[in-house]
Amino acid sequence: MPAIVIVGAQWGDEGKGKATDLLGSRVDYVVKPNGGNNAGHTVVVGGEKFELKLLPAGILSPNAVPVIGNGVVVNLEALFEEIDGLQARGADTSRLRVSANAHLVAPYHQTMDKVTERFLGKRAIGTTGRGIGPTYMDKVARLGIRVQDIFDESILRQKIEGALRQKNELLVKLYNRRHITVDEIAEYFLSYVDRLRPMVVDSTILLNDALDQDKVVLMEGGQATYLDVDHGTYPFVTSSNPTAGGASVGSGIGPTRITRSIGIVKAYTTRVGAGPFPTELEDKWGEYLQKTGGEFGVNTGRPRRCGWYDAVMARYAARINGFTDYFLTKLDVLTGIEEIPVCVGYDVDGTLHSQMPMTQTDFHHAEPVYETFAGWEEDITGCRSLESLPENARAYVLALEEMSGAPFSAIGVGPGRDQVIQVRDLIS
Ligand code: GDP
Ligand code: IMO
Ligand code: MG
Repeated sequence: MPAIVIVGAQWGDEGKGKATDLLGSRVDYVVKPNGGNNAGHTVVVGGEKFELKLLPAGILSPNAVPVIGNGVVVNLEALFEEIDGLQARGADTSRLRVSANAHLVAPYHQTMDKVTERFLGKRAIGTTGRGIGPTYMDKVARLGIRVQDIFDESILRQKIEGALRQKNELLVKLYNRRHITVDEIAEYFLSYVDRLRPMVVDSTILLNDALDQDKVVLMEGGQATYLDVDHGTYPFVTSSNPTAGGASVGSGIGPTRITRSIGIVKAYTTRVGAGPFPTELEDKWGEYLQKTGGEFGVNTGRPRRCGWYDAVMARYAARINGFTDYFLTKLDVLTGIEEIPVCVGYDVDGTLHSQMPMTQTDFHHAEPVYETFAGWEEDITGCRSLESLPENARAYVLALEEMSGAPFSAIGVGPGRDQVIQVRDLIS
């Protein structure tokens, strides 16, 4: 049975939470393979809005087992705050499982995130300030602390000591911050032992056994292709691999078991934080998309930068992730715009590019080449088939599909769970 991966095709906030929720009633496991509480996935069920940060959106699907995979970085304080918040709203969080190999975000990682951003000055990334980058840095530097470590106090203390030796040098001598003690960090982690213990599993056995038993496993990627540390707009990226290949590593599900790779793409483009953005609109249309689309970050409340759809980016994302399908979201936000430009190529210093330029310098210089499509006035939020869309909306969707590198199997026409046009089944 299939392992399905959901991947953001742009710079995040494409509607991955909604896509997960749409499939939620038909999947058995929803695993989050990467990222941490830097994500913000919104799900609207029966008019009620839920915002998930660290937890996979699948926690809202009553029959699915939500799993935090080995590739995630877990902030325990944020985890239990989110669990408590959901429980207070009547959600059942008892099925949640957490990989023993996932890394833990320590308070000093959050401090390092903030001070390094400040140190970068004008070159700051605009991170979420959640300590995500520094936690992945420690993981790769082999100085990380994993979920399993907090169940062995002596090992935990040794690891904290190893990590702090270097951190304190930096914090005290370079960044003028206070010295952090092993005791305070050990105490912080140990305070979560009892609550965490029942959730911890070898998630690779759990998930692969499930696949052996013909269960459906959905991998809900956080962030997006252009925030991928290898394939994104480096250095303006996050510190994990939120692409389809990364989902395999971050869940321990082998690549041969992934049968569907679904790209979530907005009918226009947004970005939070710094970095290049060829179709960005700094005029009334940018403001229009921001306002009409409600483009304000779930996680940090920052306004999202907005621009037109970029088919060059979509083609690249389809290539990197081997997309079998696209889920186009927020088509309804474009209703009422008379003429809708779509970026079909880049002009880089006089040379036309139909694919992503090879270098960062060229991407920075890329001027979008637009093709313009006629808009529509009719309300489309009640449409449930391609045929029921106004002619111009249908033409826009079909034109985008033609240039984006994978078939559009679902189209979002509103934030609600049922506000979707299902062109093709995304599971079987
Ligand atoms: P994620 O991080 O990819 O899960 O996306 P976010 O939740 O951060 O941002 C997507 C926003 O768009 C959320 O507020 C969703 O409720 C909303 N949304 C998703 N799909 C649609 C759609 O088709 N139409 C509209 N109007 N809103 C949508
Ligand atoms: P979801 O899953 C949008 C961005 C930050 C910053 C960069 C690095 O909701 O799509 P980090 O804190 O990860 O080191 O920040 O990545 N970023 C996101 N932007 N959506 C997200 O998640 C993001 N997660 C990180 O704004 O530019
Ligand atoms: Mg988001």
